[in-house]
Amino acid sequence: MKVLIVGSGGREHAIAMAVAKSPKVDKIYCAPGNAGIAAQAECVPITAMEFDKLADFAQEKAIDLTIIGMDDPLVGGIVDVFEARGLRVFGPRKNAAILEGSKAFSKELMKKYNIPTAGYETFDDADAALAYLETAKLPIVLKADGLALGKGVLICNTLEEAKEGVKEIMQDKKFGTAGNRMVVEEFMTGREVSVLSYVDGKTIKIMSSAQDHKRAQDGDQGLNTGGMGTFSPSPFYTKEVDEFCKKYIYQATVDAMAAEGREFKGIIFFGLMLTEDGPKVLEYNARFGDPEAQVVLPRMKNDIVEVMEACIDGRLDTIDLQFEDNAAVCVVLASDGYPVSYKKGYPITGFEKFEGRDDRFCYHAGTAFNDKGEIVTNGGRVLGITATGADLKEARANAYAATEWISFENKYMRHDIGKAIDEA
Ligand code: AMP
Ligand code: GLY
Repeated sequence: MKVLIVGSGGREHAIAMAVAKSPKVDKIYCAPGNAGIAAQAECVPITAMEFDKLADFAQEKAIDLTIIGMDDPLVGGIVDVFEARGLRVFGPRKNAAILEGSKAFSKELMKKYNIPTAGYETFDDADAALAYLETAKLPIVLKADGLALGKGVLICNTLEEAKEGVKEIMQDKKFGTAGNRMVVEEFMTGREVSVLSYVDGKTIKIMSSAQDHKRAQDGDQGLNTGGMGTFSPSPFYTKEVDEFCKKYIYQATVDAMAAEGREFKGIIFFGLMLTEDGPKVLEYNARFGDPEAQVVLPRMKNDIVEVMEACIDGRLDTIDLQFEDNAAVCVVLASDGYPVSYKKGYPITGFEKFEGRDDRFCYHAGTAFNDKGEIVTNGGRVLGITATGADLKEARANAYAATEWISFENKYMRHDIGKAIDEA
């Protein structure tokens, strides 16, 4: 089989490594890919939003399966473009990717089908939102409706902050057209857990749980980032939580989408908050998490290509999804200064230590080749260092030890990824 992966981050590198393990696959392409993905796949210089060029390429190379890693092309309808050309593709169509693409849509869906989530109101105009805030309970959460690189959520502790937030989202359009509508949501407290799942339109199979660390600095201080590290499984995702979510959240979401005429095939990522009143949905994503994929996929026993094909063909019920009885921790190595401003282009050394291992992984997120053919830093998040271990404590120690194998100028990381584990 020939497989094409669309995307260029650590998540796509984790997908590429999983696909490379499939005995069914003899050639992998990645568009556009990065310097690390180039070890598993032939990288093609087409960007993720060039749907027609990607479909042309898939036809030209007789690609058997295309996997869409990223949210923007899914929400933009890349799957519909591929399907219209008779190409096999893994991911939700545009009418289903809206589950991630519009927070107003997803909130309305949850309300209509009684799926537990925070109370909310939706606004199309700033004046109505401002009037509502005058009597709303604080803290309060403002969310731009559309995709905003994970940055369109503002938690406001005072009325002044909330008013400023409405101005930023709806009037100054800080997140572009994503802010044409806004969701104002009740503030929830509790542990956060990410649960990823495979969905074939009817059946849903849950992967092992994970937890992200979104803030830039230790102790969850500093600015929000794309994610500074993850661990899997989450000790807070107990049997009781799992049972509750199976009863009220997972299948209910899949059935709700089908009932709306928006059959969902692909990955649903449930961002959950474990509140005092039970688990509630914070958000849905329509793809693997980044860096959740970097701890969940190395623990998956199944052939990923087989599972994805079962989703496309509507026979996921025949798959016995299995995970190793171990743990994984991923520590992101970033460029110092991320997420604000940072320098790029520094040579990276130490990759050879990861070669041929199946318990230590160096996933590339922001890397490139320079003129001399060296691998250099090319983004805020540079690498994701994942290690497995018998339990989370061991995986964490292994991951931090492996972060020392890699050197580059400006290397920055959090030192408390998975620390919550020790408190559990
Ligand atoms: P989202 O992109 O919707 O997951 O929001 C990003 C982050 O904001 C989440 O991971 C939470 O940490 C936080 N967040 C979002 N919604 C709420 C809420 N209703 N209450 C408390 N925190 C929230
Ligand atoms: N790690 C969170 C996300 O991928 O959205």
